[in-house]
Amino acid sequence: MKNVIELISERITAAIEQATGQKAAAMVTPATDSKFGDYQSNGAFALAKQLKNNPRQLAEKVVAALQIDDICLPPEIAGAGFINLRLKPEFVAENLLRIAANPNLDIEKTSNPQTVVVDFSGPNIAKQMHVGHLRSTILGDCICNMLGFIGHDVKRQNHIGDWGKQFGMLCALYDRKCIEMGRQGKTLNASETLSDIEAFYREAQQLCNTDKEFDQEAREAIAGLHSGSQVWLARWEEIVSYSREHYEKIYEKLRVGLSDLHVRGESEYRDKLADVVNDLKQKKDSQGNPLAVESDGAICVFPDGFKTKEGNPMPFIIQKTDGAFLYATTDLAALRYRINELKADRIIYVTDARQKLHFEMLFAVARKAGWINDNIKLDHITFGSVLGEDGKPLKTRSGENVKLKDLLDEAVKRAKAVVEEKNPELSADEKEKIANAVGIGAVKYADYSNNRTSDYIFSFDKMLAMEGNTAPYMQYAYARVKSIGRKAEQKGINVENEINSVKTPNLTEPAELALAKHLIKYGQSINTALSDLRPNFLTNYLYELAQEFSGFYNACPVLEDTPARPTRLLLCDLTAKTIRHGLENLLGIEVVKQM
Ligand code: ARG
Repeated sequence: MKNVIELISERITAAIEQATGQKAAAMVTPATDSKFGDYQSNGAFALAKQLKNNPRQLAEKVVAALQIDDICLPPEIAGAGFINLRLKPEFVAENLLRIAANPNLDIEKTSNPQTVVVDFSGPNIAKQMHVGHLRSTILGDCICNMLGFIGHDVKRQNHIGDWGKQFGMLCALYDRKCIEMGRQGKTLNASETLSDIEAFYREAQQLCNTDKEFDQEAREAIAGLHSGSQVWLARWEEIVSYSREHYEKIYEKLRVGLSDLHVRGESEYRDKLADVVNDLKQKKDSQGNPLAVESDGAICVFPDGFKTKEGNPMPFIIQKTDGAFLYATTDLAALRYRINELKADRIIYVTDARQKLHFEMLFAVARKAGWINDNIKLDHITFGSVLGEDGKPLKTRSGENVKLKDLLDEAVKRAKAVVEEKNPELSADEKEKIANAVGIGAVKYADYSNNRTSDYIFSFDKMLAMEGNTAPYMQYAYARVKSIGRKAEQKGINVENEINSVKTPNLTEPAELALAKHLIKYGQSINTALSDLRPNFLTNYLYELAQEFSGFYNACPVLEDTPARPTRLLLCDLTAKTIRHGLENLLGIEVVKQM
């Protein structure tokens, strides 16, 4: 179905034009209080202010010209000149049937499908993923799901940190360990997991300072990696593969759609970095100066409008004095690849807010170099920190970053305790399954439901609560709706037949109409979430849906043998389908049949 806000806006814009000869925005928003209607338009009011006319009189003229009686009841003018609109039950009923008949819940596809590259997660090799990676990983995934669902061609890119000077010393130490232990090649046993490699990393850093011989080996290793020495590359690949095993397990746990197909790490661009620097040295700005110039021995680009604290032009450094390339150089190479090879119309980067300046400068340099034209949209989607209950960034007692794996395991453990208490009679398998869905779902949902740009306090108690806007509440709401269908079948009702028999949904009770109105707004909530890439609009919608459903269920007995039953069963069915679609397909949170 067409987005209701758009539909109403078109009509109002047309009426404003007819009444005034002016083209003006309809400014339609959902009403703040259902007492006043379902939607409100401020377009006539705003135009009147602009034209210095009487807003109420202008609103009256617009309403007189408005042709909307197929969608709304007669509009009302409120206050200084706002137009209040209430959907017609017939319009709601008709759209309800369309949603029921359409496997995609009748959500309209975008009229402008694009190729969208989404760069998210990006863990660093040889380090375990910590809580800081949670937000990028799941926000990015949800953004991909939503964009894909409305018809964009989404290209997920996992820009892992797998290249750089530190890998020289890491490979050198890893090589030493393998030789010490008398082993060659990939033979670390099960106990030597990524946490050992992480410990190697710390050890290697120390050795570089204290052990001359080791420092020399580390230099050889980095030189070897750069010149493509098979021996060193093999060591590096082993370290990469341990890391991949680690984070692929986490992606699976989190139900995030990232696999090895989406990995295109920093190392993939290593042969392109010199080109990036050369191209920028050759390109000239409007005054004929090269874009990349030497400054204090380093090669830098100075994009317009960026100043240091002292007021000097701020450098975007692309090659250091010792010839090494940087994170920035790699990002320039990656950006070119995405535009030229992946044919991106839009690139979305999902990282924490601390990288804001990096991306602003990256985009400015790429535009200055003419690598992207004005039709290409670049977005840096930032997010705040995950805090502990003390309001400081979440750390372990010993002050380290909390490992993502430990955090997820703990959530599942706690969810399991709840399941054991509530449903001791379930089989061990079922308990396990529910605990996983609820535990992981709780962590994800808590993150999604917070405004992404704010910090939030991580609290197991809050996220696992059965009340409030939490995953368990939503999962429980789903299980409850599904149980109505099961009860109906037990009573001998053929639910499917009854639902299919509905030709005109009978929305006479206020609670039925309210639920139906919310159901037909699902597509709109996805659009709103996408317009600013904020999943919390979607979680809010789902939470409100669960609440509308509760209101309906309390007011309208579903299973009694009355003429209202088929419509009520239909409302239950569409509620379950919508919650499930939102949780599973868009947020990647599993639903369960019982809790
Ligand atoms: N590895 C980076 C980090 O941990 C994230 C990569 C983000 N993507 C990018 N193209 N720079 O901060």
